[in-house]
Amino acid sequence: MKISAACLFILATACLPLAAHADGSRLPADMPPAYQKECAACHVAFPPAMLIAEDWKKVLAALDNHYDDEVILDAQTHRLLEDFLLKNAGGQKVGGPGGKAQGSNLPRLTGTAYFKRKHREVSQADWRNPKVNTPANCAACHPDAEKGGYSEHDIIMPGVRRFFRD
Ligand code: HEC
Ligand code: HEC
Repeated sequence: MKISAACLFILATACLPLAAHADGSRLPADMPPAYQKECAACHVAFPPAMLIAEDWKKVLAALDNHYDDEVILDAQTHRLLEDFLLKNAGGQKVGGPGGKAQGSNLPRLTGTAYFKRKHREVSQADWRNPKVNTPANCAACHPDAEKGGYSEHDIIMPGVRRFFRD
């Protein structure tokens, strides 16, 4: 975890909530290569803790109609990824990492109260930016998303700092 300069000047306890959030979005150390291979071809490998186990089950049960796309896995890989995602899923607590997604057929981590709270300062214009296209396009704004890095110190808002991205 990166420690912000501000943290160095504030009492250590004031930095604890930050650390907790960073943990909720990290990619687990036991991540199998198959998760990157099979689940990060069209979008980044989403942090497993950002959905609850029940919701991961629904996602994995509907890979033939995966948000209007199709994901094909052999039975062994399916089992491996299910074990991994369920083991590392978020808690039941609505509003914390892994809060239950609302308002879509398949669960969306971008629909959780946690995601919405973390992104309440992102404007409608930024969500609609063609370089973002969908909230699930984490890497548009979090350049380290592929490695599970969502530190608020590394965020690029497309359009705002386009100069550095293109
Ligand atoms: C063939 C391309 C493709 C592959 C491979 C793929 N996905 Fe997706 N996934 C998509 C698309 C397209 C969306 C919808 C994006 C959107 O609507 O913003 C999506 C969305 C998701 C979402 C919801 C994101 C949100 O909006 O919160 C989850 C969770 C997800 N995928 C998990 C997985 C998992 C787990 C795997 C591996 C088993 C996987 N995906 C493999 C194409 C793919
Ligand atoms: C349009 C740009 C944009 C997209 C797309 C986006 N984010 Fe963010 N994200 C932000 C901004 C900006 C913040 C910081 C908000 C703040 O600090 O007020 C943030 C904060 C976060 C945080 C909290 C970081 C912390 O240190 O507290 C997490 C976790 C996170 N995003 C995960 C994701 C994930 C996972 C995705 C994709 C499913 C995603 N984001 C998509 C812009 C974006």
